[in-house]
Amino acid sequence: MLIKIPAASRSHESDVTPESLYLSRRAFMAVSGALAAGLALPVTAAEISRYEGVDPAKAPQWFTEKLPSAQWQAITAGDEATTPYRDATHYNNFYEFGTDKGDPASNAGALQTEPWQVVVDGEVGKPGTYSLEDLMKPHGLEERIYRLRCVEGWSMVIPWLGFPLAELLKQVEPSAQARYVRFETRVAPEQMPGVRSGFTLVNWPYVEGLRLDEAAHPLAFLAVGMYGRVLPNQNGAPLRLVLPWKYGFKSIKSIVRISLTRERPKTTWEGIAPDEYGFYANVNPQVDHPRWSQAKERRLPGSLFRPNVIPTRLFNGYDEVASLYGGMDLKANY
Ligand code: MTE
Repeated sequence: MLIKIPAASRSHESDVTPESLYLSRRAFMAVSGALAAGLALPVTAAEISRYEGVDPAKAPQWFTEKLPSAQWQAITAGDEATTPYRDATHYNNFYEFGTDKGDPASNAGALQTEPWQVVVDGEVGKPGTYSLEDLMKPHGLEERIYRLRCVEGWSMVIPWLGFPLAELLKQVEPSAQARYVRFETRVAPEQMPGVRSGFTLVNWPYVEGLRLDEAAHPLAFLAVGMYGRVLPNQNGAPLRLVLPWKYGFKSIKSIVRISLTRERPKTTWEGIAPDEYGFYANVNPQVDHPRWSQAKERRLPGSLFRPNVIPTRLFNGYDEVASLYGGMDLKANY
């Protein structure tokens, strides 16, 4: 976001993993076993073919146990092609691991994601420090294929695995005073070269926030996996937010703290450059960034000769969130 916009995607055609390399062999085996047993499954033959040839992901037991009963394609992106796994995992923003797009893939392997604890505090009936496994206990996994639009002007289509944020809110019981949700990323300088580097622009930890009604919207999602696998570290393992109608910087990674608050949280990018990055950060082609237009986006992967530029849509095409902002001036509340 600082802001380096490459002329075209750095991905080469040879880097692109075919979509058939999509879901884990473990899931494939679960599916083929169930098919052999004549069980009805919420997957199509086309999906099954995408499971082939993928090595099992290193995943915690709770993830592996939930995967066979995941609800596949609970939400899709219509006929928009899913971004190849290779691009989604090698063109990242995760400044804790460096500012180049390839840094998270190179450096985030050092992040220890097990055991992982999440503090839930503030205006909630059930505050506490939850192990991720305990936090996940009540939740099944569903797959949601969402568009992701970065404020820098590129976009992808990613099949996430996780559960609605609204379910977690219900689980921890917000009090009548709760009006916002604040999220915080882990800070581990010894594992995070970007934090160690003295790169002072970001006042760690990375913080994001939502109004409570935005957080409770059915599209707001907590992801623990993608492409049928556990989340790679560079994509925010083991738990990240996904808000498809907002610019990508709202989708905070590697969450260790979720607080329900009365006051609007001070968020990282709003704190760094309030004229450029607002609290709402709703995707809007009519509200330009002060330094570039937001009318179009580069759908990755692209190339110099095929930059794959497409029009950007209000709320990234997720019109169902419009009622959250009824009567609000979207230019003033960018
Ligand atoms: N979360 C943390 N903790 N640190 C970050 O630097 N970058 C954000 C967001 N979440 C970021 C973060 C930005 S700018 C974007 S576009 C998305 O993560 C990118 O997600 P991806 O790398 O999975 O595509």
